[in-house]
Amino acid sequence: MKSNLTQIAVAVLAIALVATPITSFAQATAPAKTAPNEAAIAGFGGYAGLMKINLDLVARVKANALIGKLFADTDAPRLAGLLSDQFCELLGGGCKYTGNDMRAAHQGMGIKTHHFNALAEELQRAMDAAGVSQSEQFRLIAKLAPMKRDINEKPE
Ligand code: HEM
Repeated sequence: MKSNLTQIAVAVLAIALVATPITSFAQATAPAKTAPNEAAIAGFGGYAGLMKINLDLVARVKANALIGKLFADTDAPRLAGLLSDQFCELLGGGCKYTGNDMRAAHQGMGIKTHHFNALAEELQRAMDAAGVSQSEQFRLIAKLAPMKRDINEKPE
């Protein structure tokens, strides 16, 4: 009788585990991040959309013939998270970027205009793939363009 009860208890537990959606485990360990002002980044699919775009961007730059080597050892989720915080902040989404400033982050990499343009093109491809409108793409690019003076190595 006791062993029957034990068998039933094990069966119930097994069913409960199988029936629990995988997402609830994922959410328990890594809650989906939302921006304080999701409306400001709605054109990018909210914070989750920015993260998707930046994971795609990092995969694309890693595979890029001109600049891929620079990203060979890059931790993709970490960089995508930093970029998403930065883009969200720039777009008025109310996030806080906590990474290094652009000059310190890129010092000594020898980045020139053709490298900068290669990354900008991959970003455009990632945004196109995510269905971001041209006007929203331009809103972000306009915020990023002035950073070139801190990122690029002098002389050009
Ligand atoms: C507007 C353009 C760009 C933005 C907004 C940007 C942004 C960033 C950010 C937020 C980081 C992380 C800094 C940290 O670790 O604290 C980073 C790192 C880095 N960036 Fe950029 N970046 C830009 C252009 C470029 C370009 C043109 C290149 C090279 C072609 C480049 C190569 C790198 C590399 C190699 C890292 C280090 C990644 C790692 O941690 O492994 N970036 N960038």
